[in-house]
Amino acid sequence: MRLKNLLKYRIIIILLFVSTTFTNAANYIKIESPNNKLNAEFALENGKATYKISYNKNYIIEKSALGFLFKDLPAMDGNFSILDTSKTYFSETWSPVWGTEDTILNEYNELTVSLKETTDLQRIVKVIFRIYNDGVGFRYSFPEQPNMKDIIIIDELTEFKLSGDHNCWWIPGDYDSYEYLYNNTKLSEIDLLPYNYETRSDRNHPNNKAVNTPITMETKEGLFLSFHEANLTDYAGMTLEVNDNFTMEVNLVPWADGSKVKTSVPFETPWRTIQVSKTAGGLINSNLIINLNEPNKLDDVSWIKPMKYIGIWWEMHIRKSSWTTEFKEGFWANSGKSHGANTENTKHYIDFASENNIDAVLVEGWNKGWELLGSDNPEYFDFVTPYPDFNIEELVKYGKEKGVELIGHHETVGQAANYEKHLENAFKFYNKLGIRAVKTGYSGPIIPKGEFHHGQYMVRHYRKVLETAAKYKVMIDVHEPIAATGLRRTFPNMMTREGVRGMEWNAWSEGNKPEHTTIIPFTRMLSGPVDYTPGIFDLLFDKYKDKERVHTTLAKQLALYLVLYSPMQMAADLPENYNSNPAFQFIKEVPVNWNESVYLNSKIGDYVTIARRNNDIWYLGSVSDEFARSVSINLSFLDKDKIYKARIYRDGEDADWIKNPYSIEIVEQIVSNLDMLRIKLAKGGGQAIIFEPIDKQNK
Ligand code: NOJ
Ligand code: CA
Repeated sequence: MRLKNLLKYRIIIILLFVSTTFTNAANYIKIESPNNKLNAEFALENGKATYKISYNKNYIIEKSALGFLFKDLPAMDGNFSILDTSKTYFSETWSPVWGTEDTILNEYNELTVSLKETTDLQRIVKVIFRIYNDGVGFRYSFPEQPNMKDIIIIDELTEFKLSGDHNCWWIPGDYDSYEYLYNNTKLSEIDLLPYNYETRSDRNHPNNKAVNTPITMETKEGLFLSFHEANLTDYAGMTLEVNDNFTMEVNLVPWADGSKVKTSVPFETPWRTIQVSKTAGGLINSNLIINLNEPNKLDDVSWIKPMKYIGIWWEMHIRKSSWTTEFKEGFWANSGKSHGANTENTKHYIDFASENNIDAVLVEGWNKGWELLGSDNPEYFDFVTPYPDFNIEELVKYGKEKGVELIGHHETVGQAANYEKHLENAFKFYNKLGIRAVKTGYSGPIIPKGEFHHGQYMVRHYRKVLETAAKYKVMIDVHEPIAATGLRRTFPNMMTREGVRGMEWNAWSEGNKPEHTTIIPFTRMLSGPVDYTPGIFDLLFDKYKDKERVHTTLAKQLALYLVLYSPMQMAADLPENYNSNPAFQFIKEVPVNWNESVYLNSKIGDYVTIARRNNDIWYLGSVSDEFARSVSINLSFLDKDKIYKARIYRDGEDADWIKNPYSIEIVEQIVSNLDMLRIKLAKGGGQAIIFEPIDKQNK
């Protein structure tokens, strides 16, 4: 660590004890969280490595197995002896380049147990536990050793044996997609077949009992748990298979050849993470996953800046226009429609952005290749050739004059190998033009054929794209991504990603149920920011499609800017739908970067309220599921020395997402931090509030 950083951060590392040899089997080696509430215990039982985790002296993870199966090598699932153990304490505070808060406390106790096989191979593996106040992370580390070089993992045997049949919020363990509505069942009832999910021919549901992570649970005692992973860098993505006795086992996403992880020793696995909280909101408050990643590796971060954007995007999804200039049949082609990404239309969006405090304009369908959709060609795009009606140089210049940036787009349709071939050039091209944000996409089965979006091949690919983007000073927003695992700490140009059943589904499917966005903050969002793309005002878009619609009220669209955090936040609708609507004022003002966030009352799947501060202005968003409800909000988060004018965007008295979605009231009220505010939410409704200190307004 450099001196500069030492001065900047408060860092304490204390070595508690090192190198003790244990001979007794089944003697538990324990490590506690700094506040002593969480506890991890490691033990060898008849040579097998096991661990347990308790919270307030109750086991939340009962005795669970650890280990690996390899190709062409004996398993590492027993015959261990303990070589040595060590414990350390670590504490620092660090400041993210952007995020939901200014400073993050990273404080934990760490236990490292080095295991050595008693058999001939004498292989060594370390198990490292980090115990925080808000959860536990553990990983395996394989040091350099004579009898392990290049290895292929065919199964990771890590288990999580839960203490009961918890109430779970989960999506299927699809190897290619996280774009599902959430199911809410008991752990023992996790099974895809009877539940609401869709089969898509290009998607994979290899195991009806496997879920993708984060999976979130509530115990009978009212404790909240969430399982995920941190620092997934060169390994396979993880699904969790639910077996008997409330046990979940790691089920890694395979390569095309069936292997799970191809690697060479030394190496470390990602962290397996368990977030623990007495409240649902406490899960959102947890920084466990980001803390388990390495500090920022980029020297210069001056080019990284959160942004609000609009885009030539929704118009294709609702079939007003097309991604291509050649009007072919097929979904993406939008046959018979004009090409959205033309110079004139883009100028129109730039003008609108410039007039409305929007930083950037995303343009999809700008480059040649879309016309090949549906053909067998495995290489549609070179990512640098615009369609003839899109003058990119002129548009960058036009945008500059108006203070608006262009956001680039790399749709690969899953052709990852082709993208890698063009990667350097593609980013060089944007860098030269001064474009500093790119949305990527992998909408289709991965080529090379047989690889999955969440397998190690693609984990490596996404990492390569992230690093190449950083090299060319480009921020990225990844669609059809691998799940976030906190890498944004190390590469703060990793802004946001999809990996959720986002707004687009409302344009071309039966849509997202009202409860969807009351679950996402407690599941998907625990992994990181989400590019959900809120802000649709023309909720029915009957002019373009009469069957599909957005399943919320108008006020709820505003609340989503608080509830679904993203450092690149889209105002997703068409400019013409915003122009004369007074509710658009909220989107114009809402920031995309925050000094502080507080998680107010919530019930997963029913409602959630989140407030965030940018400088001295607070913003609040509250959303409900399909039921109308009224929630009381304690405004104690406001500064006690200030009086605030609250500008409230709320559902009208008669609002109802089905019958009357556009009914909205915009009212003002004077409040202080001593007040309780009653918030009424319509069916499928929401509320958004701006709290501005009054003295500031008078200046
Ligand atoms: C799927 C993405 O999620 C969406 O945002 C994009 O418009 C299409 N792919 C086309 O790239
Ligand atoms: Ca998508």
